[in-house]
Amino acid sequence: MQKKILITGVAGFLGSYLARKLVKEENNLVIGIDNLCTGLLSNIKDIVNKNNFCFIQTDVSEKEIIKSKQLQGVHEIYHLASLASPKFYQAYPLRTIAVTTTGTQNMLELAKINNAKIVYSSTSEAYGDPEINPQSEKYWGNVNTWGPRACYDESKRLGEVFCYEYYQRYKIQVKVARIFNTYSAGLRNDDGRVISNFVTQAIKNENITVYGDGSQTRSFCYVDDTIRGLLLMMEKDQASGEIINIGNRQEYKIIDLAYLIKKLTFSSSQISFQPLPEDDPKVRRPVIDKAKELLGWEPIINLEEGLRETISVYREKMGLGKNGELKMEN
Ligand SMILES: NC(=O)c1ccc[n+]([C@@H]2O[C@H](COP(=O)([O-])OP(=O)(O)OC[C@H]3O[C@@H](n4cnc5c(N)ncnc54)[C@H](O)[C@@H]3O)[C@@H](O)[C@H]2O)c1
Repeated sequence: MQKKILITGVAGFLGSYLARKLVKEENNLVIGIDNLCTGLLSNIKDIVNKNNFCFIQTDVSEKEIIKSKQLQGVHEIYHLASLASPKFYQAYPLRTIAVTTTGTQNMLELAKINNAKIVYSSTSEAYGDPEINPQSEKYWGNVNTWGPRACYDESKRLGEVFCYEYYQRYKIQVKVARIFNTYSAGLRNDDGRVISNFVTQAIKNENITVYGDGSQTRSFCYVDDTIRGLLLMMEKDQASGEIINIGNRQEYKIIDLAYLIKKLTFSSSQISFQPLPEDDPKVRRPVIDKAKELLGWEPIINLEEGLRETISVYREKMGLGKNGELKMEN
């Protein structure tokens, strides 16, 4: 039987990667939705003409979407649509709130009507500026509702509340993935997220912009690992009604990340220190015992390995050879 799978945010980083993986299975019919507010059609150009892929340009926050004929009979929903980078969500805070709240409710309704399974992409930002480190799913977080990050952090949390209510009231098979920083060269160069920023700056030998003194920490998960986690969440019944951290336990100071990228790119960039943005989390590291227990999942790609691949692909994207030489056109 053909499996109908909906991916929202399909023209974004994770959505396009996931779609590319799922269309390889001929039995899957993948429907991708995106309003292209930050996503790029070029991210799905290699699959857009495939027989088992269908792209719909629309907004998941619109109520009519639930009635769309093309979405009836859907079996699985990956709800990835969001404005995900501070650069974009701070420019469009109300759209951000809409997609993570109304958009999430719409996708839960769709799941309810069709008895479909749904994976909701929440975020490590649900922990805010955490007072404990590392963060397990039991930690309730420390989020400021009155600041520039709230439109994302707090609305993602409200998205989780919608998931909880639909799970409790309607027994929807909903799974909440709290995704920690994920990277690869699939991130837009101008996306503003730390790895895309640092690698792009280092390759161009421009100043690498570190906010604060760089002592804040993050953990970085390579896209292959994150996507494998999301697929397992969809597959495993024991993930229903659960919040699960998907991230890498390796924790790095941002300043160390900057020097590592500088080393791996053989860059002459200098480090430029800029003021720390308001409410920037000081630490970030997941406890992933639950993912191991319920999904049998843990990341297998370490940061240096993932960065080498990322740097090499960014170089290609920027018209440079894998080792940085300028590619000559015939
Ligand atoms: N990549 C990460 O490190 C990370 C970390 C934590 C959580 N997440 C979450 O995972 C999801 C995917 O992240 P990503 O990195 O691929 O983000 P992304 O910004 O690359 O992709 C999100 C996509 O959603 C689309 N979109 C936004 N609003 C929409 C709307 N109203 N209707 C339809 N489409 C809309 C955008 O155009 C974009 O293509 C997001 O929900 C994000 O919050 C990602």
